[in-house]
Amino acid sequence: RVDRAIRPITLEDYIGQPVVREQMDLFISAARQRKEALDHTLIFGPPGLGKTTLANIIANEMGVNLRQTSGPVLERPGDLAALLTNLEPNDVLFVDEIHRLSPIVEEVLYPAMEDYQIDIMIGEGPAARSIKLDLEPFTLVGATTRAGSLTSPLRDRFGIVQRLEFYNTQDLSTIVERSARILNVKLDASGANEVARRSRGTPRIANRLLRRVRDYAEVRFNGEVTAEIARQALDLLDVDNYGFDMLDRKLLLAIIEKFEGGPVGLDNLAAAIGEERGTIEDVIEPYLIQEGFIMRTPRGRVATKRAWLHLGLSPDLTLDGQ
Ligand code: ADE
Repeated sequence: RVDRAIRPITLEDYIGQPVVREQMDLFISAARQRKEALDHTLIFGPPGLGKTTLANIIANEMGVNLRQTSGPVLERPGDLAALLTNLEPNDVLFVDEIHRLSPIVEEVLYPAMEDYQIDIMIGEGPAARSIKLDLEPFTLVGATTRAGSLTSPLRDRFGIVQRLEFYNTQDLSTIVERSARILNVKLDASGANEVARRSRGTPRIANRLLRRVRDYAEVRFNGEVTAEIARQALDLLDVDNYGFDMLDRKLLLAIIEKFEGGPVGLDNLAAAIGEERGTIEDVIEPYLIQEGFIMRTPRGRVATKRAWLHLGLSPDLTLDGQ
């Protein structure tokens, strides 16, 4: 996929996230100086902010291999043991969606992380025994959208925990300009700003919108992306002036029209818009909360005044206009 080409492979090319970048630079340099594996690293944050990218950069900067898997793929302890026993010294094992590991697989990770050892069962029934296997030193890099759903024994075994934040428009502009150079798209500063501003703080969305805006510019114009052309293309894509997409608006509208602005519980909201609660929690809500359009309260989700105004409604009036 073309995605590979626009993913940065060094920390220097990783844009934004200044705290993460400075810390990781330091920890990687220290581990390299001592010729040790980097400490196990947990990366969390909403989808599309560069967790996988960062894992790849860590392996690249450490000068080691990256082996990649994900929580739901590791069904049996043997699946994880097979990966762990094939690592070379100081390699990175990247486990995406690590909050979805099954408990029996997670058990294998504890001694692996702590002592670079695993206990495996040989045989079955009365003749079964467990033997200890030594592993090469390695770095587990775990990624999750929800740090809160990790068990505490697992969370406690990560020496480094990084939280990725939504990107500001300026950093997203830089990311879009870099991608445009790699993809050979002509994009001026105002065009980059328009795409960046409407990307929900998320590089994956910015890069996707850049490709669609390019399509529009190539077919309807001469291929060059200006702010005006970006604006037209994004309107066509149903990305609104705040960068909200159909799902965002559907959620806001449901809270307001079906639940009088809230509070409404997550399960009711999920049923009302026909999405899973996990999608609401992990994908839709975080940006709307950060931007102050909804609030999480003990009694459920509430649409703020900004949400009403954004949809052209007035929070001071009830919906039947009184
Ligand atoms: N793509 C995804 N995340 C990125 C970042 N932080 N910098 C540059 N390109 C990216």
